[in-house]
Amino acid sequence: MRPADRPATAPAPAYAGLSIALHWVSALLLCGLFALGYYMTGLAKGAPGKAAWVNLHKSLGLTAALVIAWRVAVRFRRAAPPAIPGLHCWEAELARITHRLLYMCMVVMPPSGYLGSSFNQYGTRFWGVPLPRWGWVDSALQHMFYTVHSTTADLLLCLVALHVAGVIKHQWLDAQRCVQRMLPGGRTRAL
Ligand code: HEM
Ligand code: HEM
Repeated sequence: MRPADRPATAPAPAYAGLSIALHWVSALLLCGLFALGYYMTGLAKGAPGKAAWVNLHKSLGLTAALVIAWRVAVRFRRAAPPAIPGLHCWEAELARITHRLLYMCMVVMPPSGYLGSSFNQYGTRFWGVPLPRWGWVDSALQHMFYTVHSTTADLLLCLVALHVAGVIKHQWLDAQRCVQRMLPGGRTRAL
C-alpha cells in the first residue's frame, strides 16, 4: 500500500536549512569520532601518542554532544517534512524507526563516554580545560559505562549503514529526490 501520490511537479518536502547544517556537521563529527575511537582502542596500553588521541576523542566527543543537543532541541521544535511520496508503508515506518534509534544512540554516546572517563583516574579535559568528574575511581563502573559506549557505537554504526543504504535505495533504485531533502536548496526543487 502506498500513501497518496503527489503531483510530479509538487515542491520537494525538504528539511529546513538549520536541520540540514546540523545533520551534516554531526555526521562529519561522528565519522571522525568513529575512526578515532576504533583506532585508539586498538593501540596497546601506554603506546606513544595514545593519551593524546584519547584526549582529542574526548574533546571532539563533547563538541559533538553540543551539536547533538542542539540538533535534538531543533527536532523537538520542528517536525520532519512529510515522508517521500510513493514510499511503501513499511519503508516509511522503517525510516521513522531508524531515525529515532539514530537519535537515541547519538544521545547515549557522549554521556556514556564521559561517565566511563569519570570513574577512572584520568578524568576528562575539554580542549585542555579540566572538567568535573562525576565519579570516583571504580573499575567496575568504568567498565560498565565503556561497555555501554562501545556497544552503542557498534549499534550506531549499523544504523548509519542501514540509513545510508535506505537513502541509496530511494535515490537511485526508486529514482526519488531523497538526498535533495538534506541539501540546501532542496525545498524549492520539484519532485
Ligand atoms: C557522539 C560522540 C562519540 C562517539 C561517536 C564515540 C565513539 C567511540 C568509539 C567508536 C569508540 C571505540 C569503541 C570500542 O570499540 O571500544 C570509543 C571509545 C572511547 N570513547 Fe568515545 N565516542 C563519543 C564520545 C565520547 C566522549 C564524550 C568521551 C569522553 C568524554 C569518550 C570517551 C571514550 C573513551 C575513553 C573510549 C575508550 C574506551 C575503552 O577503552 O574501552 N567518547 N568512542
Ligand atoms: C553519522 C552519519 C549519519 C547520521 C547519524 C544521520 C542521521 C540522520 C537522521 C537522524 C535523520 C532524520 C532527520 C530527522 O527526521 O530529524 C537523517 C536524515 C537524512 N539523512 Fe542522514 N545521517 C548520517 C549520514 C548520512 C549520509 C552519509 C547521507 C547521504 C547518503 C544521509 C542522508 C540523509 C537524508 C537524505 C536524510 C533525509 C531522509 C528523509 O528523506 O526523510 N545521512 N539522517
